[in-house]
Amino acid sequence: MSAEIRPVLAGHKALVVGIANDRSIAYGCAKAFRAVGAEVAITWLNEKARSHVEPLATELGAEITAPLDVSIPGQLEALFELIQARWGKLDILVHSIAFAPKDDLRGGLLSCSAEGFAKAMDVSCHSFIRMARLAAPLMSDGGTMFAMSYYGAQRVVPNYNVMGPVKAALEAACRYLAFELGTAGIRVHAISPGPLSTRAASGLKDFDLMLNAAARKAPLGEVVDIMDVGFTCAYLASGFARRLTGDTVYVDGGVNVIA
Ligand SMILES: NC(=O)c1ccc[n+]([C@@H]2O[C@H](COP(=O)([O-])OP(=O)(O)OC[C@H]3O[C@@H](n4cnc5c(N)ncnc54)[C@H](O)[C@@H]3O)[C@@H](O)[C@H]2O)c1
Repeated sequence: MSAEIRPVLAGHKALVVGIANDRSIAYGCAKAFRAVGAEVAITWLNEKARSHVEPLATELGAEITAPLDVSIPGQLEALFELIQARWGKLDILVHSIAFAPKDDLRGGLLSCSAEGFAKAMDVSCHSFIRMARLAAPLMSDGGTMFAMSYYGAQRVVPNYNVMGPVKAALEAACRYLAFELGTAGIRVHAISPGPLSTRAASGLKDFDLMLNAAARKAPLGEVVDIMDVGFTCAYLASGFARRLTGDTVYVDGGVNVIA
């Protein structure tokens, strides 16, 4: 397949946040961007994560690497200062992170604590708004921003619990940011992948059942992989998609159209 791929994003600079390991959706995005010619900046959550992420950043030829925990004041600002100093611009931003405290995630929405809700919303949604605020001035030639959502934002998916309302807020944030940034030539999309076996997914109760249900329901007959998500983002970041913004784009083999 790679022999047919053209470098449609050559010269583009992409910040990809959310690689934990080689199963992360963010890794699929970074790999797809590299395949079509873009340069990438990669972050890791903390020192523990660094040993897993750094080899992947090397493999991807990442020009910029840095720690980023969006809960630590100042780290996001430091990252964007580094990007400004090294690249002086940014074309693509991928926000592929989510978190909710285990007890708040595993219980139903009714029993979610105020603190757990606020934490989930801050890391999984408001941090995207903070990133967009810092990224926009660097996207002087226009750009594209992505945030990872899930079907549980739109319809009730058992066991998705607090992440349902959080992802609904994230999708709405994408629409409002698309509106506010559109005249600057910056496009914003929520991407809604079907279930994928990642570390974040393992925090959901009965995730295997979600995966099996998706495989059964998908008109295309199979579940998606991280490269499907990556190449969808690569397409949306390219000039081929220059009139598209604000949508929630499903990468789920068609599961969302089935009752
Ligand atoms: N796996 C799925 O089935 C699926 C489906 C749809 C959407 N998503 C979404 O895709 C995104 C990526 O998840 P994934 O499935 O690739 O799992 P993953 O575990 O590989 O990635 C989650 C990432 O979030 C990061 N993160 C958590 N807290 C953070 C913080 N405070 N600061 C910075 N980073 C932090 C982790 O370090 C990790 O890299 C998430 O938003 C998730 O909700 C996942």
